Amino acid sequence: MSSPNTRLMPVTATISSEDHLLIGGLDTVELAERFGTPLWVMDYQTIVQAVSACRDGLAAGFLEAGNGSRGAGGAGSGSAAGASVLYAGKAFTCLAMGRIVRRLGLGLDVVSEGELFTALRAGVDPETIFLHGNNKSDSELERALLAGPVTVVVDGVGELERLDRLASRLERKARILVRVTPGVEPDTHDHIKTGQADSKFGVPLADVPNFVRRCLSMPETIAFRGLHAHIGSQSHDIEPYLRIVDILADLALRLKEMGVEVEMLDLGGGLGIAYTEKDRPLPLYTWARELSAAAVMAFASRKLTMPHLLLEPGRSIIGPAGVTIYRAGDTKEFLSGVRYVSLDGGMADNPRPATYNALYTARIASRMSAIGTDDVTTLVGRYCESGDIIIKDAGIPVRTGDLVAIFATGAYNYSMSSNYNRTGRPACVLVDDSKAELILRRETLEDLICQDRVPDWLTDD
Ligand code: LLP
Repeated sequence: MSSPNTRLMPVTATISSEDHLLIGGLDTVELAERFGTPLWVMDYQTIVQAVSACRDGLAAGFLEAGNGSRGAGGAGSGSAAGASVLYAGKAFTCLAMGRIVRRLGLGLDVVSEGELFTALRAGVDPETIFLHGNNKSDSELERALLAGPVTVVVDGVGELERLDRLASRLERKARILVRVTPGVEPDTHDHIKTGQADSKFGVPLADVPNFVRRCLSMPETIAFRGLHAHIGSQSHDIEPYLRIVDILADLALRLKEMGVEVEMLDLGGGLGIAYTEKDRPLPLYTWARELSAAAVMAFASRKLTMPHLLLEPGRSIIGPAGVTIYRAGDTKEFLSGVRYVSLDGGMADNPRPATYNALYTARIASRMSAIGTDDVTTLVGRYCESGDIIIKDAGIPVRTGDLVAIFATGAYNYSMSSNYNRTGRPACVLVDDSKAELILRRETLEDLICQDRVPDWLTDD
């Protein structure tokens, strides 16, 4: 079973007889001419295959653990058995992505009112939406309560009390999961670890029974549904996940002794993807299979009913689908041997190298076979910071005017992008079956000033 998260390029990437990069059957050189650069290209088939890999893995895990009737089904939060894939919208969200979530029958993890609003506007079923966040505002919680049965993943006691008050005022009952801090650290960058004991996220493991008791004291407003844990992002290792399965199964046993059933078990997201040839992430299929099998066995061995299992992959669904196409501008060569090639984008459309020292892989979109292993070209961005380096020693002999393709930029590029230096965000096109559709239009100069207001007293002269 192929899982796109182990590949550098989208599943439809091929090289034409002219040595050009094709995605979704389209020549990226022509896409750059038609839509301009920088350009985010999203490959629909990569998303579809990633979702299938995750679902097939979940179903295989259930079978393997002897619980064959419970494969991955719809994300409707009503069903007690089975498993669902919630796409983590923070990786990449827009209206078209909401439609893809709907069309593929995924559930959705949202983390702000903006993500929730986008999802609802795109027609995502509120039943399949889960609202996260460590400091949800009243207005976010209200929107979730009013939208319908959105599930709130409650992060702490303060939030629970606010939700109780808001639900009572609005005469609604909130479905909730409790976010547990399991005290488990994955093998990833410190900034994107979340499961460690002193994390800002969640309720410490030891406090969860009391927290659930508190939920039970609010029967009019709060419906406790289950447990959630997310330990971090861009993790390559299964072991920390297997530990949280055991930790949460032990916790479920403890709750059972208190007379409380865990109906939903959400193990979060965080599976890594390949950004360079050296990266060997666990395939999405294997991750989902091992987690579902482990969960079924952990609950069976404790004589507990298996809850509805949820996974929340973001990066591993959308990351490999995205490729950024830049145009190379001026070059500089120094006696020291350093060679800089400036791209027409950089840290405003991809802040990950500057933020996490993230590594990427590049090719020349019109000369795909041009790879020089001893090449010392450093691809730098156009922004006013020395740290705006997209790839050091990129290994490609780029010349001014070339189109440079950077792979695996589908996740946390657009969603973390900015207007730094007052530049507009790039356009994004969705490609499939030799068709390209704009899903985010390029920001214009007018867009850049559309929020600006000038006080009257400054317009006197
Ligand atoms: N669930 C929860 C509760 C999360 O906080 C996250 C990510 C996910 C699921 C999805 O994780 P994924 O499968 O995408 O790794 N900006 C960083 C990543 C931050 C991830 C935040 N939470 C980056 O660019 O690497």
